[in-house]
Amino acid sequence: MSSGIRVQKGLEGVYVTESAISFIDLERGALYYSGYDVRELVERSRYEEIVFLLLNRRLPTAKEYDAHVRELVSNMRLGGDHLDVIRSFVSKMDPLSILATLMVIEGSGKQGGDPSDTSSAVRAVSRMGAFFSTIVRLKLGGDYIPPRSDLGFVENMLYMIRGEPPTSEEAAILDDLLILHAEHGIPASTFACLVAASTLSDLFSSVAAGILALKGPLHGGASEASYKQALEIGDPARVPEWVEEALRSKRKIMGFGHRVYKTYDPRALIVKEIIRRLEDRLSQEGKMLLRVTQALEEYGEKKLANRGIYPNVDLWTPIVYRALGLPEDTFTPLFAVSRTAGWAAHILEYWTDNKLIRPLHLYTGDKLKQYVPIELRSGS
Ligand code: SDX
Repeated sequence: MSSGIRVQKGLEGVYVTESAISFIDLERGALYYSGYDVRELVERSRYEEIVFLLLNRRLPTAKEYDAHVRELVSNMRLGGDHLDVIRSFVSKMDPLSILATLMVIEGSGKQGGDPSDTSSAVRAVSRMGAFFSTIVRLKLGGDYIPPRSDLGFVENMLYMIRGEPPTSEEAAILDDLLILHAEHGIPASTFACLVAASTLSDLFSSVAAGILALKGPLHGGASEASYKQALEIGDPARVPEWVEEALRSKRKIMGFGHRVYKTYDPRALIVKEIIRRLEDRLSQEGKMLLRVTQALEEYGEKKLANRGIYPNVDLWTPIVYRALGLPEDTFTPLFAVSRTAGWAAHILEYWTDNKLIRPLHLYTGDKLKQYVPIELRSGS
């Protein structure tokens, strides 16, 4: 029955849809958002513009950009229901789960399927930024601060955490991180969004599915896991012994390896440059993290590069997140905020030619069995 059927575990190497949103050029080791090299976008653009680019496949005019930023900021204003949820759960639930809960609330009673619904897409990004910042602020002991209309989306994210506008450098660092994490093809979390969206569930509920798929340490949870890994190692001199033990015990080294990249993750190279800009202002912990990560990069590459296992973006981002004063359980939530732009773009694009996602499985269970009434079944 199963002759000739090939199960492709993890859909490795399987193309599940066509998309014009982003491209990973493995030859050049480069990532492109709708034709623009992400390196150039980090240098010359802003996350708000990237949200427009991913949703529209083109950069905005100045007039469109101003209207777009106003729309993003206006949707950052939260209502009492949102604040009730955050205040109720901030000391009981991890921030990512609170984000998913709030996204589920956004989707309550809504329908999906409209590929032109960019206003919901922008609202989803905006809400995620405001939810994230308010969760962090309450986690750090403050209370909700509404956005300021004279600040952009990224500046408001930091303003809503701190209660004061960020320095231009801090805003630029957060902006770079958000651009780098905005989109990456069809990783597990984006696929989870598409599975939900393909049933014509609404955009917000489909984003909630993506948030929950991002959580695991094999995917978005790797940044927090990589941070804890560096703290566990604690000293660059311990790296060789720690890596040897990890490899012996088949433990995955967080921040290494990738299903698609078999060379250095281009985003990781850009994060390293951001860290170089920050280096002389790192805290004691930040300096330790940097030394351990540099040693891990060197020894890990020596041991794993020949198998196509290289550092990925999550090896380095904890150093930057901590330099922004973010607690480790907010690293993946920040990734989720950024990636909401890519998730929403893929959902809308998929709805232009929607097809319910419903794969098959190769049955390996028992053949047909006769039913035996319980009173006739022998054994204990
Ligand atoms: C992200 O896909 C995306 O685009 C995701 C992402 C995005 O932007 O959305 O880029 C974000 O998720 C980055 C990846 C973050 N995850 C980690 O850093 C966690 C550690 N990495 C590994 O778990 C792993 O590399 C994966 C999950 C990322 C990819 O693994 P695959 O493609 O499923 O490959 P595999 O687990 O089958 O590994 C193949 C072999 C195995 O050895 P053998 O059983 O063949 O002997 O390589 C080994 C693995 O043990 N291996 C590792 C390793 N990664 C793979 N060994 C040690 N440490 C690692 N990190």
